[in-house]
Amino acid sequence: MRKDYHSPVLSVKHLSVKFHVGNQTVEALKGISFNLYPNEIVALVGESGSGKSVTCYSIMKLLPKYASVSGKITLNSQKTKIENLLKEDEETLRSIRGNTISMVFQEPSAVLNPLLTIGDQIMETILAHQKVSKEKAKEIAIASMRKAHIPEPERRFYQYPHELSGGLKQRVVIAIAIANNLEILLADEPTTALDVTVSAQILKLFKHLKEDLNLSILLITHDLGVVAEIADRVLVIYKGEIVEEGDVFDIFDNPKHPYTKKLLASRPTISDII
Ligand SMILES: Nc1ncnc2c1ncn2[C@@H]1O[C@H](COP(=O)(O)OP(=O)(O)OP(=O)(O)O)[C@@H](O)[C@H]1O
Ligand SMILES: [Mg+2]
Repeated sequence: MRKDYHSPVLSVKHLSVKFHVGNQTVEALKGISFNLYPNEIVALVGESGSGKSVTCYSIMKLLPKYASVSGKITLNSQKTKIENLLKEDEETLRSIRGNTISMVFQEPSAVLNPLLTIGDQIMETILAHQKVSKEKAKEIAIASMRKAHIPEPERRFYQYPHELSGGLKQRVVIAIAIANNLEILLADEPTTALDVTVSAQILKLFKHLKEDLNLSILLITHDLGVVAEIADRVLVIYKGEIVEEGDVFDIFDNPKHPYTKKLLASRPTISDII
């Protein structure tokens, strides 16, 4: 599926990130460029340490102070137009995070507050970004839980995170992420901590969200099965550089870069599994 006829919602240009720790410098990203278009899932794949998470943290502007960052990240969404996110102050970034762009992580328990009910946590993000009454916020929260396919949202609203399974917790994190008419979702290995069946359900949910909410999703995964299942396009990152980019079928059928070939060759085959 080509997206040329749309303009990108997010455009990353020549993004470089270096970490200075003591007298060592780690070049985590070496000038990467890519676009995210509306209504697509782009998989970002690459080995451990290749710069996948740093890419997401750069977009959220959540890198530590000792990181030096250069390049340009342009946001051109329905709600927010910003020439270069990297130049914006913390206040602007706070108004964008959880509103226009959200991030979900591998471990939902690390994000959820164990002392607050699910409902309070979803309402908190709504009240932070929308001028609505508490009653209206509750309505939006329940609707958001429904969009995240959480069964019995009215009852779950009053539950605490520890009362929920891992899969439901991740759905709650997703309900929080999408609560404010989200446009861009960054998902950093969102199903790695879940078992295979639950993981498949969450991936299906991403596909629904992409279509129903016209979302752009940048999905980090190690799992090429996941990529084949739900991604529209693939970015292959290797040692801080994007070495290959293309439609998912093109990359699977005709990998060009040696690293991509190796990655595809190391996929478990049916005979490895049974
Ligand atoms: N906060 C940090 N301080 C110093 N170095 C960091 C920091 N975060 C990441 N790095 C380094 O930047 C490089 C890219 O890291 P990153 O976390 O993006 O890898 P990744 O592709 O997400 O790997 P994984 O698949 O293991 O999650 C690595 O060399 C890592 O050690
Ligand atoms: Mg990572």
